[in-house]
Amino acid sequence: MAESTGSGEVLPTQETYHPNIESYRQVYTESVETPEKFWEKHAQVLDWHRKWDKVLDESNPPFYRWFVGGKLNVSFNALDRHVQGNRRNKAAYIWVAENGDEKIVTYDGLYQRVNSFAKSLMDLGIKKGDRIIIYLPMILEAPVAMLAAARIGAVFSFVFAGFGAGALAERINDSKAKLVITADGAFRGGKIVKLKDIVDEALVQSSTVETVVVVERTKHDVQMQEGRDIWWHDIVGSRITYVEPEWMDATDPLYILYTSGTTGKPKGAVHGNGGYSVWIANTLKWAFNPGENDRWWCAADIGWVTGHSYIVFAPLFLGLTSIMFEGAITYPAPDRMWEIIERYRVNLLYTSPTAIRTLMRYGEKYPEKHDLSSLRVLGTVGEPINPAAWKWYYEHIGKSNSPIIDTYWQTETGGFMIAPPLALGLPPLKPGSGTFPMPGVVPVILDEKGKEIPAGEKGYIAYKRPWPGMFMTLNNDPERFKSTYFTKYPGMYYCGDYAIKDKDGYYWLLGRADEVLNVSGHRLGTIEVEDALISSPEVAESAVFGRPDPVKGEVIVAFVVVKEEHEGNGEVVNSIRKRIRTELGPIYVPEEIHIVKSLPKTRSGKIMRRVVKAVALNQLPGDISTLENSASVDEVKSAIEAFRKETS
Ligand code: PRX
Repeated sequence: MAESTGSGEVLPTQETYHPNIESYRQVYTESVETPEKFWEKHAQVLDWHRKWDKVLDESNPPFYRWFVGGKLNVSFNALDRHVQGNRRNKAAYIWVAENGDEKIVTYDGLYQRVNSFAKSLMDLGIKKGDRIIIYLPMILEAPVAMLAAARIGAVFSFVFAGFGAGALAERINDSKAKLVITADGAFRGGKIVKLKDIVDEALVQSSTVETVVVVERTKHDVQMQEGRDIWWHDIVGSRITYVEPEWMDATDPLYILYTSGTTGKPKGAVHGNGGYSVWIANTLKWAFNPGENDRWWCAADIGWVTGHSYIVFAPLFLGLTSIMFEGAITYPAPDRMWEIIERYRVNLLYTSPTAIRTLMRYGEKYPEKHDLSSLRVLGTVGEPINPAAWKWYYEHIGKSNSPIIDTYWQTETGGFMIAPPLALGLPPLKPGSGTFPMPGVVPVILDEKGKEIPAGEKGYIAYKRPWPGMFMTLNNDPERFKSTYFTKYPGMYYCGDYAIKDKDGYYWLLGRADEVLNVSGHRLGTIEVEDALISSPEVAESAVFGRPDPVKGEVIVAFVVVKEEHEGNGEVVNSIRKRIRTELGPIYVPEEIHIVKSLPKTRSGKIMRRVVKAVALNQLPGDISTLENSASVDEVKSAIEAFRKETS
């Protein structure tokens, strides 16, 4: 039996898996042969206030525009239509706190909270097009703030609450935000992270912010600055308020999410209201085939794109019930995740290879303590999943009954690009492969010069056609948008990853082809760490790279040359660590910091990071004909040997 959603959209209550991939192939072929017709149909997953005039405008590449002339509101699609339909009393979120507290919020409850906070934002002078920063932990106010912004047409930029003051200030300044929404603090692993203090520190470096709204979470003492800072609970009323949704153009920006690149500052990927929403709602359905009564748990943080698309927007568009979890997966014990699955009878679990590898190290005894029989589909995201972790997940968590949906995508792509299409016809899975492209996605594997390379060989993955979820531009930097993504292979989107297409047509994603790091599934820039290092008073020069790690995928390794006056100072490493932690956040702190007298350089003085990395990882350094100071190579070698001896 199926239930109506109030929008004409119907989700299955029973599994509708197809045993073979022929039906997928048909859908895929339709999506590439008649894309306009295809998207015309699939855009109906949303309710539109005004229908579009044109499905895709390609007149100004690479600034592709989808559903031009169409108007909609994201919060209306996430809430109003369910409240008006049959989902008023359905749980939107089951929120589980680090200490085990829980709150269940229904679609109607969320709708009321969002309306109320939307009104508060308006009272604070926020209008359509204004920029706001959300710097919150995993609490319900996070989706409420995002949806309230979307309701009134304000463009939000969510900053992961693990980032430090420098990273936050940079994002506030680049987005020219007028308002920041934060909390007094966040609970993490039994400790309090003082978010409000970090905001105060960031605001010393910013001049655009007029108001700071503070959610009371940890209840420790915080300084409230008169005239600027205001408590969330003081501005949201208890009365039911209704705010008419702002009907946005499909091509109006919805949010900006900053992500790391190889050069310069983080890039603000801008996602729009229409194409992005169509994309994430459809891809969630195609890849995971969620049912009306399923419980969906995307165990990412809302601060990353995975959380934006698949904790907040797509599950709410589809009217699903989501688990939202505040804590760490190993706290207070390594069975935290399995306990939550059992307690809340989670049906669809979506997590990262790092999480799986972390939990795998504790052995099967932890999952075996729990009844995991509710699980039907298991997903992963963020980094390549090694076959051993895939098999462990499949056998010990899914009991060899649940398909593994390995979703490959990026901040810029908005939603899944390559993933097993469970709802369309699941192909036989191969551990470590994301299988096939989502409908509308046309990948190609190229060599350096742009020539398509044969099956089974490693190359760069690019996309030949635009898809609805693609980011629209980079905030303040349309030129960088073009040069970073659309210049290497003219007319195609180049995403910076290596991949192989095997002889059966399966895609295998092999990780970054550039100097971007992937630590625990989080994309971090070597350049950001190097910038923070050389802005430390003790550091003269630095080279940063990623070392493969069996659990985290990669960990950060830094080689630094300290300034003469700090040579021999035993506190340097600690002081550098502390600085990176406060500037950028804990995930950026290098696992290893090695002090050397000099770093390999070219004759023109450029640090040869590639050589440092090769030497430190015991690999061949490649072409070193431009190397000027060969003694530095020995320096790197002896530093790493001394370290290995110490730690073995
Ligand atoms: O290298 C790819 C890797 O993560 C990068 C994107 O990072 P970010 O924009 O932070 O988004 C992460 C969540 C979508 C990609 O360029 N990546 C992501 N998912 C996979 C992956 N690599 C292999 N397999 C995946 N499933």
